[in-house]
Amino acid sequence: MDRFICNIKKIGVSLWIRHWRLRLAAWIVTRVGFKSNKIFGEHKKDLFHSMKKLKATVGTLKVLEIGAGGGVNFKFYPAGTKVTCLDPNPCFEPYVENNAVVSGLHQSFRGEHV
Ligand SMILES: C[S@@+](CC[C@H](N)C(=O)[O-])C[C@H]1O[C@@H](n2cnc3c(N)ncnc32)[C@H](O)[C@@H]1O
Repeated sequence: MDRFICNIKKIGVSLWIRHWRLRLAAWIVTRVGFKSNKIFGEHKKDLFHSMKKLKATVGTLKVLEIGAGGGVNFKFYPAGTKVTCLDPNPCFEPYVENNAVVSGLHQSFRGEHV
């Protein structure tokens, strides 16, 4: 019985560590992403520029962003873009939601523990 309780405790602790590791990773990646936007922002603007032309031609854009992280690229998408985000870390979801609102995008997020 003692061994059983000990194993349950070990599982609980490892799940707790995993959860906080994912939360910390989401926080760090999002912060670093925003810092990199400050450094590479002009290059990113050039890279995403063609989306504005595309929007003028086809209307509302639908984007699938794989490995979206915290959504730090959203500010380079044309307003109103519908973006679907995939990321193995579900702890990015609150960052994605917030950054979509700030950038005027419609988003849906799919994150899973892998
Ligand atoms: C360097 S971050 C880039 C985040 C964001 N796209 C940006 O530009 O700041 C890479 C992201 O890819 C995600 N990722 C890692 N492996 C992945 C996989 N197999 N499929 C999809 N996303 C993955 C990570 O969780 C992380 O959020």
